[in-house]
Amino acid sequence: VEIFRSDYKSPANWVTEVTLDFDIYSGSTIVKSTLSVVKNEGSTVEKGDLILDGDDSSVKLKEIYLDGEKLNSGSDYTLTSSQLIVHSSCFTGKSSFKLETTVSIVPEDNTQLSGFYKSGSMYCSQCEAEGFRRITYYPDRPDNMAKFTHVKITADADSYPILLSNGNLVSTTEKDGEGRHSAVWEDPFPKPSYLFAVVVGDLGSIKDSYTTTSGRNVHLEIFSEKENVGKLDYAMESLKNSMKWDEDKFGLEYDLDIYNVVAVNDFNMGAMENKGLNVFNTAYVLADQKTATDGDFERVEGVIGHEYFHNWTGNRVTCRDWFQLTLKEGLTVFRDQEFSGDMGSNDVTRIENVKGLRGRQFAEDAGPMSHPIRPESYVAIDNFYTATVYSKGAEVIRMYNTILGEAGFRKGMDLYFERHDGSAATCDDFRAAMADANEADLEQFSRWYTQKGTPTVKYSSSYDPSTSTFTLDLSQHTASAPDNEPFHIPVAFGVIDSETGAELVESQVLHFKEASKSFEFKLSSDPKGTAVPSVMRGFSAPVKIVSEASPATQKTDLLTLAAYDTDGFNRWEAGQKLYTEAIFTQLAGDDVNLDGVYQAFEQTLTSPKISDDSIRAYGLMLPSESGLAEDMDIIDPIGLHDARTAIKKKLARKFQAGVAELYDRLTKEMSGAPFEVNSKAVGKRRLRNTCLDYACANKDTDEEVIASAQLAHKHYFEANCMTDQVAAMSILSNVHGVPEAEKLRDEVLSKFFDDANGDALVLNKWFTIQAVSSKPDVLEDVISLTSHPEFTMTNPNRCRSLIGAFTANSAAFHAEDGAGYKFIGEKIGILDAMNPQIASRMVGCLISFKRYDENRATKMRAELSKILEIEGLSPDTFEIVSKALS
Ligand code: ARG
Ligand code: ZN
Repeated sequence: VEIFRSDYKSPANWVTEVTLDFDIYSGSTIVKSTLSVVKNEGSTVEKGDLILDGDDSSVKLKEIYLDGEKLNSGSDYTLTSSQLIVHSSCFTGKSSFKLETTVSIVPEDNTQLSGFYKSGSMYCSQCEAEGFRRITYYPDRPDNMAKFTHVKITADADSYPILLSNGNLVSTTEKDGEGRHSAVWEDPFPKPSYLFAVVVGDLGSIKDSYTTTSGRNVHLEIFSEKENVGKLDYAMESLKNSMKWDEDKFGLEYDLDIYNVVAVNDFNMGAMENKGLNVFNTAYVLADQKTATDGDFERVEGVIGHEYFHNWTGNRVTCRDWFQLTLKEGLTVFRDQEFSGDMGSNDVTRIENVKGLRGRQFAEDAGPMSHPIRPESYVAIDNFYTATVYSKGAEVIRMYNTILGEAGFRKGMDLYFERHDGSAATCDDFRAAMADANEADLEQFSRWYTQKGTPTVKYSSSYDPSTSTFTLDLSQHTASAPDNEPFHIPVAFGVIDSETGAELVESQVLHFKEASKSFEFKLSSDPKGTAVPSVMRGFSAPVKIVSEASPATQKTDLLTLAAYDTDGFNRWEAGQKLYTEAIFTQLAGDDVNLDGVYQAFEQTLTSPKISDDSIRAYGLMLPSESGLAEDMDIIDPIGLHDARTAIKKKLARKFQAGVAELYDRLTKEMSGAPFEVNSKAVGKRRLRNTCLDYACANKDTDEEVIASAQLAHKHYFEANCMTDQVAAMSILSNVHGVPEAEKLRDEVLSKFFDDANGDALVLNKWFTIQAVSSKPDVLEDVISLTSHPEFTMTNPNRCRSLIGAFTANSAAFHAEDGAGYKFIGEKIGILDAMNPQIASRMVGCLISFKRYDENRATKMRAELSKILEIEGLSPDTFEIVSKALS
């Protein structure tokens, strides 16, 4: 059934208090609940029945009492596959009452990983968005905020010494005659059911503490399986940094005496912000030198921050209904991005986030699942935990910050908490707080919440020396949603003198609200060279930016910006645009003039002005295939891959000496230095590995292939950390057809596997690197890896590491014979029966068939049609596939 945003009604009754009793036995868990219910005087729902959600594929009702009286099925209540409806006749005349239910569930059989389930030797829960209804009958909607006053957990004491839930520990009991013990937890803050959590297991942990500015001493503890306790330190550091940052930046303090985090092997998403008890996918919490790349460390910091920041933006103020999801997610992603930038480098973080947005969100917005950051309808809400809601949502929040300024944004945040703390709010509430706190007009800005698609902003400029007037002409249009009304687009803007590099117009934010508009600026003096516009500095809006100048002017403008722009993001962006244009010229089969590209590359390679090695590295890297694909109407995945590879090879040849020299210099500088994770050390590794990549790209003859493989092989064996090992192995995994080089490849792959020694997250890398290889027979490798003893479809991380990674290997997945599609189609069928959330995410790789040629589109559509015919297909997968085919 499709649910619409416009249909929101507050319920007839509220549950205000809850007690829960979990009695856990192997093969069966009994859950007793007592709900205190009051009538909702403000409700406009006609019937006053008490509606409780419950998924009868998971929950079996045993008993039900109302104020101590047993209720009868049919006359007193109705049970459907998804609801328990207690007829209002059972409580007419009562201003409040208590409803007690007993249900049984089987966490051991819960392969969906939603609700209460078993992961390895521990039990854990995931309730967002609608998992609580798989634990017990309850109004499982975020506007019902209740106090969970008493949550008792009982389990075998030897197998499950750790018993956790939200809030504060009230009491425990010792092992009884049957070997069982229990704990009681209480959460003083009212919360919606999606923030509830229970964890039970034999876990190890590390402990620390944090004292808030107002003097609250908070006990911090991070739990994991015992063998992983040595990999929790970075998460703990990140947690303390997050707590400090939120105090400094937003004046927001933690509000309980305990903050627990648990690492879980089997988890559908990244992590979950349950009040006082975060549950994390191990991939976003475990990290050490031997097993985690710099990217992994960065993700741990970001996600630890993200979940911590949710305590205010998500928990203290939650969402009225799931259409408002971006209210907490967009805002919290913005906050975690700002945090990561402040911990490392703001420019580097910005570049990484924009790359991610372009590669994923732009693609989503150009496909059949395109939706506004606040969707109008859904079938399965889990399908809307998307790049659009999260990443574009964060860009929309960033635009408030850009429009109102940092101080104005803070004022808006303060007012938002003043008005809505302790309640369930909407996106309009947030916008109103921002507007009211600043007396700003944000009416037109609301279109970012109602209109989908990626706008394109075109610009051109001119300079009139007779009046010293610089004119910038802007126009906006959204190709995928042509009926869109103009957006309020903040355009951060400046003008650079091509000759001197001087800033002729100081950086400022233009408010572009029309379909097209000209902005004029008086220059204080004539430019020595030409006046070059720098638009959308810092990527000030989630749009595509296109210059309408002649190709020759564009090229010289980009060279100016790459050299002189005062905005770090746009300096990088200018280089990327030069590379992009070269790759597309190559793809079109035209003669490529690489003068400009060479100039930009050389400058990036050698300029002493670049002080951050990460910036230098990102400046040398070509745009990703997924980012480039978004600039094509019909995507040619193989042509794109080949064109990008060709340009890379040309750069590698031309700068062979310079790249080798930089590589050697960095090798010397880094040798013997202790392993550290900070922007300086990370930057050095990033730059050195980028040099390695170029040094190894230079290979036409067998001799060159062997020399490349030898270099990567040496890099691998001299590596002191996972980042460098992965860099080398990724290069080697592409080797094929030259036996001497293949020997080196196989040696490294098997050494890596052996050294992993069963570590799940390291093995995931081993699977992924092989799945994204450019070998022509990569699909055969992937198919044979699906029978590897370490492969399993039941663990989402492992499944993604092989199957998901292969779908991201665009040239291979989109092989012309359709073998990639067929392989994935079959896997989705199997997956859907086990875990619909993972299956429906995976099917996303087939839905954008309109972006491909007729041959590919036909084959993709055929796989989708087959999936649609699967008996018992989940609503999740059904929603995605049917929307794509309609
Ligand atoms: N709120 C979590 C996070 O962003 C995501 C949980 C989503 N889970 C799901 N099954 N849809 O931090
Ligand atoms: Zn979140």
